[in-house]
Amino acid sequence: MTWIPEVASNLAGKVDGVLWLITIMSVVFFVLITVLLVYFSIKYRRRSENDETPYITGSEPLEIIWTVIPSILLIVLFVHAFVVYKDMRTPPEDAVDINVVGKQWLWQFDYYNGKKTLNELYLELNIPVRMVMRADDVLHSFFVPQFRVKQDLIPGRYTQLWFTPTKVGTFDLFCAEYCGTGHSKMLAKVVVLSPEAYDIWENGTQVEEGPAVAGLVPAELGEKLYKEKGCNACHSVDGSVVLGPTFKGLIGRKGECTDGSTYTADENYIRQSILEPQAQIVKGFQPVMPSFKGILSEDDISALIAYMKTLN
Ligand code: CUA
Repeated sequence: MTWIPEVASNLAGKVDGVLWLITIMSVVFFVLITVLLVYFSIKYRRRSENDETPYITGSEPLEIIWTVIPSILLIVLFVHAFVVYKDMRTPPEDAVDINVVGKQWLWQFDYYNGKKTLNELYLELNIPVRMVMRADDVLHSFFVPQFRVKQDLIPGRYTQLWFTPTKVGTFDLFCAEYCGTGHSKMLAKVVVLSPEAYDIWENGTQVEEGPAVAGLVPAELGEKLYKEKGCNACHSVDGSVVLGPTFKGLIGRKGECTDGSTYTADENYIRQSILEPQAQIVKGFQPVMPSFKGILSEDDISALIAYMKTLN
């Protein structure tokens, strides 16, 4: 079937399932109602000047039927779509993180192994990936029709998206949020490689250099920043408690804050804690951390998070 994009991710079939269910239900009711409308208007048409419209007061069984059946159908639709949506929003534990930056007007991809690519995203077949995305300037949107995934990139916070590519090939990545003059040219290629081909790409000698510190993988840059920017004065990496919480096992940690709210140490919480340390103080600690706004760049923060991920 060529009128919808080919199915190239684990999520695509599920999304299509919801689409088909809605489409089939809509077509069935459209045909049913239209046929009855035409049939009744012919059968009960006014035949002479003396025809009188009968006085009908209502029918309880009929009203119950046309209330209960659509309600059941809507509940089925909701439950099916909700299950698929929950699946789409819940990355598996073993998903590989890739940092995505959208800016006017290009896509930048940072891999855990230190590689960086522009406007080309390299993925390994059947390996679940999680896109950790941010925008540098305005809203952008990551959209790959063949994968049936779409998510906005927002300045000032991380958004995420996950999928498993299930087909080797090259697919189009579109920016699906109007972001200025170059919006229609903000395109990238997604290259899904077989494990052998991915291995060759991954170990290729041609290392693309990033703007931050050339040659360092994000986690190494994060470790360097951890020491150079003074994080190590208050945050240990071995589990011991100094002035602030330890970075060991930090990613994914949940707990209570001094104001009674709860936190989950995901990318957004870490970023907020670096830029606005007073926003959510972990219970048992003093609000003594200074803001690193203007000291650490967004790339630096991403690198620190990559470093923290190695400490889990
Ligand atoms: Cu970026 Cu449209």
